Amino acid sequence: MNPRYPGRVYLAHLPTPLERLDRLGKHLGGPELLIKRDDQTGLALGGNKVRKLEFLAADALEHGCDHLITSGGPQSNHCRQTAAVAARLGLGCSLVLRGQAPIRFTGNLLLDRLFGAHLYWAGDRPLGEVMSQVAGELRAMGRKPYLIPLGGSNVVGATGYVMAMEEFMAQLAAAGLNVDFIVFASSSGGTQAGLVLGARVYAFRGRVLGISVDRPAEELQTQVAALATATATHLGLGTVSVAGQVEVNDDYLGEGYGVLGEAEREAIRLVAQLEGILLDPVYTGRAMGGLIDLIRWGAFTHRQTVLFWHTGGTPALFAYGDELLA
Ligand SMILES: Cc1ncc(COP(=O)(O)O)c(C=O)c1O
Repeated sequence: MNPRYPGRVYLAHLPTPLERLDRLGKHLGGPELLIKRDDQTGLALGGNKVRKLEFLAADALEHGCDHLITSGGPQSNHCRQTAAVAARLGLGCSLVLRGQAPIRFTGNLLLDRLFGAHLYWAGDRPLGEVMSQVAGELRAMGRKPYLIPLGGSNVVGATGYVMAMEEFMAQLAAAGLNVDFIVFASSSGGTQAGLVLGARVYAFRGRVLGISVDRPAEELQTQVAALATATATHLGLGTVSVAGQVEVNDDYLGEGYGVLGEAEREAIRLVAQLEGILLDPVYTGRAMGGLIDLIRWGAFTHRQTVLFWHTGGTPALFAYGDELLA
């Protein structure tokens, strides 16, 4: 299989480091642990969306667009990274955010403002509806907006994670390492779709396990499988079915999206204090909390190697300061 990658704008610091988590691994007493540092993709404090945005921004430029529009929650990492990409490329940026404007702008929201994005508060209106309205207003002013879906999770964005798997396989080969499981936070599904398709394309022999952050496993699995198949077509790979390879665990949804629980608190504290690495309260804290639980109940053997793919999100830590220290 040979993907035909479309145009890309070089924005990320790649390859991101592949590191050992020896102290955490020893503390938990389970499998060998590794980490892939996509929190270090460079632009705007890093994160997984930069890989997607390299392809999305290239597509926007190719279509002659001069303004990026996307949406998300008030602490959306995707929105923050989109705002930074727009600034870097000299494009306008409008962000449609769920709910009402808060009194204090902190974490990602503070950074959205620093990058000069226009913020629209959707209240309880559907985000897509407000995005269309904003796009209409921009067009009426003679601008050419490019709409990016939630999380950048379409075939263009997912392409970034197909390519990430090529990078990862080269790192494993160079270091003579073997990985049995890749574990990471999954939400809008683009990261997982790209990784699962990339695993097929680049012959990764381990399993790719998404820890759902906010939705039932079956729903996310269906979405990821459809997106991976569509991405394969987009990359000229023909019909590729990955349905059997899309593994999602939804045991760690806790009290819902963005609600910090004891599992997230413990994961963030452990990884910070044993490895000097920051996780985030919404995505990677939840996924690592899940991984820690899986290790504790013996889901992996001592001989296996598990890689945690860090997808970023650390700016949101500052929006959860009081809750983290409670
Ligand atoms: C830090 C972080 N990790 C993981 C994810 C999930 O990635 P995806 O939406 O591609 O499933 C997101 C998405 O917003 C994120 O911000």
